[in-house]
Amino acid sequence: MAGAAAAVQPLESSLLPAELSVILPSFNEADNIPILIGLLDKALAGIAWEAIVVDDNSPDGTTEVARKIAHGDPRVRVIRRIGRRGLSGACIEGMLASSAPFVAVMDADLQHDETLLPKMLAALKADDTDLVVASRKVEGGTVGEGLSKIRAWGSNIANGLAQKLLNVTLTDPMSGFFMVRREKAEELAPRLSPQGFKILLDLVSSANGTLKIKELPFTFRERQHGESKLDTLVTLDYFGLLLAKYFGDIVSVRFLMFGLVGASGLLVHLVALRVFLLSDMSFNLSQTAASFVAMTSNFFLNNQLTYRDRRLRGFGALIGLLTFYAVCSVGVLANVGVANLIYADPSFWLFAGAAGAVMGAVWNYAASSALTWRKN
Ligand code: GDD
Ligand code: MN
Repeated sequence: MAGAAAAVQPLESSLLPAELSVILPSFNEADNIPILIGLLDKALAGIAWEAIVVDDNSPDGTTEVARKIAHGDPRVRVIRRIGRRGLSGACIEGMLASSAPFVAVMDADLQHDETLLPKMLAALKADDTDLVVASRKVEGGTVGEGLSKIRAWGSNIANGLAQKLLNVTLTDPMSGFFMVRREKAEELAPRLSPQGFKILLDLVSSANGTLKIKELPFTFRERQHGESKLDTLVTLDYFGLLLAKYFGDIVSVRFLMFGLVGASGLLVHLVALRVFLLSDMSFNLSQTAASFVAMTSNFFLNNQLTYRDRRLRGFGALIGLLTFYAVCSVGVLANVGVANLIYADPSFWLFAGAAGAVMGAVWNYAASSALTWRKN
């Protein structure tokens, strides 16, 4: 078995300080990790390497599986993260835990071709390259059987947008397989967002064209064990990053998301108002009830999307909902107050209304992130 083979061998290479750290973000990859370590052992013969498994406390026991291997092989290290989820964040923490001059980031599910690693390392060392990207799109690379039709289509749109909006010229900016000089990753780390899957795009766009990049082709393999974690939230998050970077990071992804949820709340409000009015409730009562419906919908959407990394559950969600009502009620005052000030001249009604709404949104955002979805 490949796992057993990997465990036998603290060879001389393991006594040297690692030249290359391979970061393996994992969530529910217990069946894949032992095979992967065996494959790395083969592919990286002659190179002083280490693997850093960054596992988000997977329920399938990936951490324990990786620890068992690490116990018999000093080249394998494990970071177990509790209370956090996110591929990008796991990659960042893994890179920051390395002391090697070069770090690679690679999926832990065997979809990435480990035999490319020595070529990536050689390319990184040969010329003055800072980042080598394993691309599924560059000539010679393919998505093989690894991506479904619909995923391949979505991935093309995502790439096109990244190129148009951010001037990122990567052929595969969504790739999760790359190697970078650690000092560069270290320098950029404070600017990266830990959410979602977009670590590479984030690295490259945060560097503002200062990274010297090379691309190498590879074939994306099909997944054999376990399942993909890329879902709609991850996709939403990716588009959020594109927008935020496009606007030069003036507004955060979170604020954009909060604003979108707020806009959906307006729709919910109007529909609810109509329904209440039709059921013969007075306007004031209908308007109040509709506000509560909209605030409740906003709360749950924000809890699912905007603050999914701080998601409130059970009793915490109930308290959160109540503080959110309180925050939004003050938000209405801020909104009306500002609008009134400007409305002193009635020809400014549109500007007054919009300024009031923005003021209310800014207040709701600031106060709810401090009160409702506090960072612990
Ligand atoms: N620690 C941690 N935390 N690891 C995670 C998490 C997480 O929340 N989510 C996913 N991973 C790990 C998986 O265990 C796997 O090793 C790797 O990240 C990739 O996740 P998959 O769920 O297998 O992604 P995919 O195969 O659908 O997506 C591939 O294509 C994307 C672009 O199309 C990956 O290569 C992505 O990196 C890439 O962005
Ligand atoms: Mn995968």
